[in-house]
Amino acid sequence: MKKPNIQVCPSILSADFGRLAEEAGRIEKAGADAIHVDIMDGHFVPNLTLGPRALAAINRATDLFLDVHIMIYNPFDYIEELVKAGADRITFHFEATEDVEDTLAFIRKCGKKAGLAFRPETSFSMIPKYLTQCDLILLMTVSPGFGGQKFMPEVLEKVRLTREACDLRRIRQGGIVAEGGISLPPFDIQVDGGINLETGKECVKAGANVLVSGNYLYGLPDLAAGVKSLKSL
Ligand code: DX5
Ligand code: ZN
Repeated sequence: MKKPNIQVCPSILSADFGRLAEEAGRIEKAGADAIHVDIMDGHFVPNLTLGPRALAAINRATDLFLDVHIMIYNPFDYIEELVKAGADRITFHFEATEDVEDTLAFIRKCGKKAGLAFRPETSFSMIPKYLTQCDLILLMTVSPGFGGQKFMPEVLEKVRLTREACDLRRIRQGGIVAEGGISLPPFDIQVDGGINLETGKECVKAGANVLVSGNYLYGLPDLAAGVKSLKSL
């Protein structure tokens, strides 16, 4: 099978919050596929970040796809507001609600991409049932809450198993997984936390095709060169 295109989503959490509009423009100019916006409530994770008003400001500053990762309890209650603020994809945590299916369905009903995120310690066995209900699975490679943490290599096995489960499901659904070099849009598997060239490569090898990166990209002298090198993994 042809190598999937790798999408790179710089995390605006590592940017200068005093200049969010300029930072959004900088990410766009750097050739990124999306801006990853982390929204935290201080309960599901012990940190507070941006909210819908900041998201709307980012949206006014760029045409780029807004990839919104919400680390909040009762995610259903915030979907409408986030959609209004400009979210293109909303990814919430499996561990944050008992209404996973309704929340995924509601995001899709709003015409947006639905993503489901899993903490590093959540078992792979929870994932397969949702593969037909969402557009993206986010496998956290750090404990959610803060940028700049160390990548957890034990999550790689979950990435491999999730990709395998996606491929199997596609085969069963009518042989969509092609042999002989036909390329197809992959089901999106995103990794988030501690992603750099080295850990990103491991994740891509295991089956991830959407890379979030904060501290690594923002620590480089040239954001565009960093995006390009991650995209070429
Ligand atoms: C952590 C956030 C991440 C964070 C990643 O909870 O979900 O998106 O910004 O930052 P790095 O790449 O620095 O780990
Ligand atoms: Zn995130």
